[in-house]
Formats: sequence, structure tokens, C-alpha cells
Amino acid sequence: MSLEVLMTDRDRTATRLLRSSAEHSYDPEVEIDWDAPFVPGKYFVPPHRSSLYGTPLWERMTEEQRIELTKHEVASIAGLGVWFETILMQLLIREYFKQDPTAPHAQYALTEIADECRHSVMFGRMIARLGAPLYQPTGVNQWLGKWIAHTGVGPRMYAAILIAEEILDTLQREAMNDENVQPLVRMVSRIHVVEEARHVRYAREELARQIRAAGRGRLAFDKVVIGRAAYLTGTRLIDPRVYRAVGIDPEEGRRAARANPHHRETMRWAGERVVTFLTDLDLIGGPGTALWHASGLLPRTA
Ligand SMILES: [Fe+2]
Ligand SMILES: [Fe+2]
Repeated sequence: MSLEVLMTDRDRTATRLLRSSAEHSYDPEVEIDWDAPFVPGKYFVPPHRSSLYGTPLWERMTEEQRIELTKHEVASIAGLGVWFETILMQLLIREYFKQDPTAPHAQYALTEIADECRHSVMFGRMIARLGAPLYQPTGVNQWLGKWIAHTGVGPRMYAAILIAEEILDTLQREAMNDENVQPLVRMVSRIHVVEEARHVRYAREELARQIRAAGRGRLAFDKVVIGRAAYLTGTRLIDPRVYRAVGIDPEEGRRAARANPHHRETMRWAGERVVTFLTDLDLIGGPGTALWHASGLLPRTA
């Protein structure tokens, strides 16, 4: 494919996405009633998506404790969301800096950063409103995040972004329609889903283009990085520290969630769409395979 065709294709998509951004963008400061009290009896994630749902630990908890656990679980998901968004904003601004600012493709990168700025404020504000601690990756995961923020380019950058965005999107699409879920969480989810649909489109198309341009042989290193991003997302979406909020030792909670067939099914379900897409591009496999298996995101037969 010639460079000219590549640019035209890119800019055509970007032009559509810019128009959609102008028509469907939300300011969470205005759209969300941040002072509204929580509704008694409503959960913060659909109860069947709680990591301990159906386990003996869950059966022992009171209804209040179950609701409290889901509050910390949604805080953990939002904390990981902000963390990924902050990495993505750095990657996109660097990509933008290399491009022609008159091109729609470059302008859309900047527009996506603007979306993510609002999202990170929204997630940060939600975590504060929940009264939950900030659950974000620590140790080696934190170091890897900094590394990819500074060095992420090409397929590994877009694939890592897609894993986080599509998993979050699947969870939020369900939460926004669930009447058992707190209105604040439903509204935050709805705003995020509408705006992320553009990001997913942009990253999917850009990733497919870059794979075609890179050729199959050059992707071994990227596959390891992508597998590591999947592992981090799968294992840290629910930070084990959330279990402290209901008096459960983090390690005991982590082990129970890991063994919980409901939670395993939730992770496979959340990963299904992005796993299918990355499989079609041949990005799951080779030296990254073990990390993908350990992430819990692959279908049972894989
Ligand atoms: Fe976002
Ligand atoms: Fe995004």
C-alpha cells in the first residue's frame, strides 16, 4: 500500500471521528450531579461481576459488605483506568508532535487527549466521591507503566491501549444499563462508553495499518509487551487491597477471586472482543503466550 493511500485512509477515519467528537462529547463537571447521595441498596458494579460473587467469602458477607466491596472494586477499575489514560495521553502527545498539525489524523490524536483529560478528571472525582483509596499498579507494574509511557510506539502501543480500553468498555456497557447499579457509576460509565467508542475505532484501525506496514516477522518483541499488558490488566483490574475494605486479607481475597469460576468467566467475557481482534491480527502467540494464559483473559479452549 502506498504512503498516499495510507494517509488518505487515516485522514478519512479521523475526519469522521472529529465530527463525532464535536457532536457527542460530554463535560462530566456539568453532566454529573456530584453531590447526589448514593442510593441505599444499590451496588457499585453489578453484583454478579464482583470478584468474590458466589464464593464462600461472599456467602459470609452481609448485604452492606457486598455493596461496600463493589464500591472498592469500581474504585480499583477507575484507578487502573486513570493510570492507563495517563500513559495513553503521553504516547499520543508524542505521536502528535511527530505529525503535521494540519492533518485530521494528527488533530484527532489531540482531540482524543482532550477526551482522556476529561475522563481522568471524572474518574479521579468519582474515586474521591466514593471515599475509596487510590488503587493503582505498584512495584514492577508501576515501573513497566513508566517504561511504556516513555518508549511505547507502533503495534505494542496501540495493542496495549486497546486491551485496557476494550475491557473497560465491556464492563461499563453492562453497568450503565443495570438498574441495580448506583446512578453515579451508571452515568460515568455512559459518558465513557460513548467517547471510548471513537478511541477504540482509532486504535483498531491504526493497529491494523501498522501491522500491515511492519510485516509479520518483526513483531516478536511487541508480542511479549502486549502479553505483559494483558497480564497486568487481567490481574490488576481488581487490586487485592480492595478486600481490606470488608475485613478480608488481600492475599486470601486474591486467591479466592482467582479460583472463583464466576470471576474467571467475567474476565474471559470482558476480554473476549479484544482477544478476538488481536488473534485475527496474529498478535497473541509466540513468546507472549504464557503471559496471556496467566492473564485469565483467553477463552477456556485456548
Ligand atoms: Fe477514557
Ligand atoms: Fe480512551
